[in-house]
Amino acid sequence: MDKLSKQLFRLKDLNVMMAETHEEGHKLKKALGPVELVLFGIGVIIGAGIFATVGTAAAGDAARPGAGPALILSFAITAVACGFAAFCYAELASLVPISGSAYTYSYATFGEFIAWIIGWDLMLEYCVGSIAVSISWAGYLNGFLRSLGVNLPAWATVDLRSATQGFAKAAALIKSGIPLDQLTPALHRSWEAFSTAPHFFGIPVIANLPASLVVILLTLLLVRGIKESSTFNIVIVAIKLLVIGFFIFIGARHIDPANWHPFAPNGFAGIKAGAAIVFFAFIGFDVVSTMAEETKNPHKDMPIGIIGSLVVCTVLYMLVAAVFTGIVPFQALKDAMAAEKAEPLAYALQHVNLGWAAAIVAVGSIAAQLAVLLALLLGQSRIFFSMSRDGLLPKVFSSVHQKYKTPYVTTITVGLLVALVAAFTNIDEMVDLTNIGTLFAFVLVCLGVIILRVKEPHRPRAFKVPLNPLFPLLGVASCVFLMTGLPAITWIRFVVWLVIGLFVYFIYSYKHSMLHPGNRK
Ligand code: ALA
Repeated sequence: MDKLSKQLFRLKDLNVMMAETHEEGHKLKKALGPVELVLFGIGVIIGAGIFATVGTAAAGDAARPGAGPALILSFAITAVACGFAAFCYAELASLVPISGSAYTYSYATFGEFIAWIIGWDLMLEYCVGSIAVSISWAGYLNGFLRSLGVNLPAWATVDLRSATQGFAKAAALIKSGIPLDQLTPALHRSWEAFSTAPHFFGIPVIANLPASLVVILLTLLLVRGIKESSTFNIVIVAIKLLVIGFFIFIGARHIDPANWHPFAPNGFAGIKAGAAIVFFAFIGFDVVSTMAEETKNPHKDMPIGIIGSLVVCTVLYMLVAAVFTGIVPFQALKDAMAAEKAEPLAYALQHVNLGWAAAIVAVGSIAAQLAVLLALLLGQSRIFFSMSRDGLLPKVFSSVHQKYKTPYVTTITVGLLVALVAAFTNIDEMVDLTNIGTLFAFVLVCLGVIILRVKEPHRPRAFKVPLNPLFPLLGVASCVFLMTGLPAITWIRFVVWLVIGLFVYFIYSYKHSMLHPGNRK
């Protein structure tokens, strides 16, 4: 038993890791200042979260109450939780001077078993997060095409899960005497999807094809290799800020303050549930905090970069929340969101007869979300790649394309998986799963900071969390608090996912690890 526990906590040697990254020519340049960090943060943070999850967060669904106009408080709560976690991420990232995710850091500091759990768990953030963003992206694309008069067939644009739920509701309404043409557009589409779907061996084919296709196209792009340039990032950031600013500016003129009453129709329970959902909108700041080693003055610039991007996004999000709940009455929102989930901002503008503005928001968000999707798919394939290079996943996943020099096997595997699941699942379920997985990773990172301050107090840190252990503990508490705001089914899925991970580890990874006796390079 002693021997097993020693093996489970075997550490990857930092010097070896450094050598490996040098091999790949990954020497990092210290070029980033506070402004670059804030811009970089905005680029990776703003995406499907603000464009898609606000609807469910405000209106609620069958499993939880909605926040209503108090959605702005949900954003504030989540921003504070993210702030604590971001500080901890930055310290851990600066402790292990290698660019990478929490998986890499934990391998050098906590040992293989914890690293495996984090790596496995991070798939929920990156892989499932990609699924959610692709569904949101497709929702806005379909909405935009509809506004141009292009109607893709219903069976090719709704996912099977939402269509089944929508169809059941539509059938019940029709049975109660409501005519088909009086159903909401979303229920109508679910009905249409079932009545027009082609059949394959007797099974109706209903799939969100645009969501799958965009993932496949981006996967091809990633296999081919892309160079992220700062110009590209600035253009993306500009689009995001413009489109969000546009929504706030145009929408603000159609606010009816009566819609803000009651402010919190479901009390604190609704605010909490909303906070747990909109957490998705903040995911990505963890990427900012991994830039510590590329930052000129990390101890000064890192907090500015992290807090700065969080503050900018939080202010924008709160304004969007105020406008969004100010232009659509709570009940109308509840009715609409019961079936139409993926494009709430466009819906809100249509509600006040601003179809043209909805189309502009749709176009902007299509571009904005594409960048987030690309970053998530890239992140996932790199984590898979590292895990495979460490022997924890089959070697084939770390093969590099001869011509393009990209990890094409992992990229294609991830792409196919995401594309397949995106065709058939519902955005809310994917957002919840992404959130629980990411929050759990943050809890481990916050705990890690406290443990390492005790275990390795002298290891140099470019950035230190202020007021340790208070800040990390507040990080743990606030992330756990948000996790408890997610539905029971999400917890069950999450636990099942971790248990599968344990099986994979003990059946495969433990023995194939590069650190296993006999496997060393
Ligand atoms: N924060 C990212 C988004 O909202 C994941 O799309």
